[in-house]
This record gives sequence, C-alpha cells and structure tokens, in this order.
Amino acid sequence: MKIDPWSSKSYQDYARLRDEFGIQAFTEECWKDLPAPHRLFRRGVVFGQRGFETIRAAILSHKPWAILTGLMPSGRMHLGHKMVIDEVVYYQSIGADVAIAVADIEAYATRGMTLAKAKELAINEYIINYIALGLRPERCRIYFQSQNEDVKDLAYLLGRKVNWSQLVATYGFDGSTNLAHVFSPLIQAGDILHVQLPKYGGVRPTLVPVGVDQDPHIRLCRDIAQDFRLYSVLKTKDDRIGVFVKGDEKVSELLDNAETIVSRLGFSRLKRITEYNALYLEDATETDIDRVDEQLAVSEPAFGGYGFLQPSSTYHRFITGLTGDKMSSSKPESSIFLTDTPQEAKKKMMNAKTGGAATREEQERNGGKPDECMIYELYLYHLLESDAELQQLHESCKKGTILCGACKKRAAELLEALLVDIQQKRATAEERIPQYLSPPSC
Ligand code: TRP
Ligand code: SF4
Repeated sequence: MKIDPWSSKSYQDYARLRDEFGIQAFTEECWKDLPAPHRLFRRGVVFGQRGFETIRAAILSHKPWAILTGLMPSGRMHLGHKMVIDEVVYYQSIGADVAIAVADIEAYATRGMTLAKAKELAINEYIINYIALGLRPERCRIYFQSQNEDVKDLAYLLGRKVNWSQLVATYGFDGSTNLAHVFSPLIQAGDILHVQLPKYGGVRPTLVPVGVDQDPHIRLCRDIAQDFRLYSVLKTKDDRIGVFVKGDEKVSELLDNAETIVSRLGFSRLKRITEYNALYLEDATETDIDRVDEQLAVSEPAFGGYGFLQPSSTYHRFITGLTGDKMSSSKPESSIFLTDTPQEAKKKMMNAKTGGAATREEQERNGGKPDECMIYELYLYHLLESDAELQQLHESCKKGTILCGACKKRAAELLEALLVDIQQKRATAEERIPQYLSPPSC
C-alpha cells in the first residue's frame, strides 16, 4: 500500500494505515495533561502522531515551540478543511508560534493552477475564513511559498540529501513526472523546517498537524532533518549512550562542545574516543537521549549546521462527505462550504446519508446507527462541544428515541448558527489580512 498525497483517494481503515506506516497512536496519554484538550482529540478524530512527546514536553514545561501547517488553495474551503485550523487555533491559544504556508507553488506544480488564481483562492476562501475562525495575528505568520525566498532557498539546499530513488519509492514518480512536481516535497520540507532557522525563531520543536495523506511528506522531512544534523545521539549495540559527530569536519571542536553541553546537563562519567567521533555518557540512560539531543541541536548553528529537530506530526481522520464518499471541493453536493448560505447547507444536509432505518416504525423499534451516519459525524466533528450531549445523542439514536427528522433539524440549526457566525466575522476579517501576511507585500 502507498499513501499518495496528490490523489483524491479516501481512507477508511485508519488503524491499519497507522500500523503499516509506523505512525504512533494519539492516545489519551498524549493529550490528557494539555490545557482544555480539544474535542477532536477527545473524540479520536486526531488518531495518530509522530514524535508528539517532544511537543507535549515543550507545552508542559512552557518552552517555545512552533506549529506549521499548509493549505493547498485548490478549491472552496469546506468543513473538512476546518479541522486543521480548529487545531491551529487551539494550539495558538496554548502558546505555539504559528506559521501557515500557502502552497501556491505546489498547486501550480501538481494541479496546473496559476499563481494568481491560487492567490485569489487562498485569500478569499482560506485566509479570511481562518481569521473568522479565530486565528489571531500575534505570533502568527501566513506566507505564500512563491514569495518566501528563505523557504525556496532552503528547499533547494535540502535537496542535497534526497535522491531520485527515494522519491520514486515514496511517491511513485517516474520519467514523465514534471520537475516542478518532483520538487514539491522539497518545498514542503522547506516550509516545515524553515521555522527553525534563526530568523524565524531558531531551533525548537515543531508540530505539523495534517491529514494522513500528508504522511509521506512528513516521513521524508523527518529523514532530511536527521540527515542534516551534525550530531546523533543513540544507544549503541552494547547498551551505551553515545554522542557521535557525523561528518569528518571539526570533529574535535564538536566533541569539545558536546562535552561542555552534557556536563552542564549533569553527566560526569564521560568517555571520549576521538577516532570514533564519539563521546560516551556512561551515566546516561535511554530516557536522557531526547534531552541531550535537543541541547546539542540548539548548539549546531554555531558550527555551521542547522540543528533541525525532527518535526512532529499529528494526523486527523477525514470527515466523510454528506453522500457517504469523500468531502471534497469538487463535490458540492457532498460538502458544506464555509461560504454556503444556511439554506444551501440545510438542503444538502436534508439529502445526507444517515444511519436511520427504512421506516419510522422500524427505527422506533430497532434504533438507528449513529456510527454510520453523516449527520452524527457533523455533530461529532463540528456541532457539539459537550461530550455529554454527544454521548446522549448517540444513545438516543441507538435506542430509537430520537428520529432522523428531528435530529437533522437540530443539526441544521446548529450548522446555521456556525455559518452565520463565520459569515459575520468574515465581514471584518478582510481588512485584517495584512496583519497576518509575511512578507507584507503578498
Ligand atoms: N501538501 C499540503 C496539501 O496538499 C499543503 C502543504 C504545503 C503543507 N506545505 C505544507 C502541509 C507544510 C503541511 C505542512 O494540503
Ligand atoms: Fe443519524 Fe440522527 Fe438519524 Fe441517528 S437519528 S441515524 S444520528 S440522523
């Protein structure tokens, strides 16, 4: 199985995907100590992660960390796209620095979209809605890939550690793939890693919240970050914890620096073997690795490295479309757009696939199937904040004490309130766009 970030495939079996690609579960342990855990965490919509522990540790110890995500301006913004921004707004409220990439080069390279059209869509569909949904301008920066020279330069330089076979294996590229498309995973790596350049806040944990279709990019980017490090810290085959200098340049300076850093961290039984480029920490255990690695990473820019920490990621499930297939900009009857009028939205909802029985009598007798119902999914993802109310709805549906007509009516009312609120906020959002864009000329 391959995950293709550019196809319109929908994914069903998330547990299998997770296991097959070595994604970790986003368990209660990951989020339960965070301030006011988000409903998408509590309800298992965010189901997987890589390296989230680093982010959790930064949040709990009030250290700086960043969040970076991207939007592909390829069509109208719908409720499926809203999830990422809901997460970003939450993380911003608990202290993250936010950067958002408008993937206009990717849209140009992979969808044949002009940069001008991508810009128009990005602003009217995405950025205005992001602001309406509560994204704040402080410590937040939205940029276009095509206008950020640092991202483009970095993407180019990162290419040094990626070869063609890797891209073929990861994305299935072949001789007919256009080179702008070939380059788009590198631009995305540039997006993700540039937030750790000194100019953008320096080396720090970075979280990338995405849909699971983006995992190939994340894997590639994590590998690249690791490959550019000057140090690696690991447990050796004979169970020792060692710091290793990876290249042949400045080995003794780098080992001196490592000695200073680990001493400061409290390790004293150090054994240096310069010929092996190694410094063993005889009094460290496996649980110390991340802490040591992070301090070494921070020191790397002084030696001409980047010190990129591997980015962490979380993966959310995709919301199902109203007709039971994928919610997608190209399927208006299946998608609720953030700019739909309440009447349009209601009409689509009335035609949605539910888990109701064929007749009223049957549903009263045997109940409905909320877990197969698109209306229930709307409640779960977007319409009900209270877990108790959601649970109650689930039970009443299964018992047959609520029927689809009344249930849809309530959903339509909640959706209307949501859309009206967004639309009102859009009115003032437009003039605030310049507060978010960087560089301001965008
Ligand atoms: N490739 C992403 C998409 O198709 C958009 C994107 C570009 C992105 N750069 C990113 C996502 C960086 C996350 C992080 O939606
Ligand atoms: Fe879905 Fe509501 Fe009908 Fe249950 S009662 S199947 S949740 S629409």
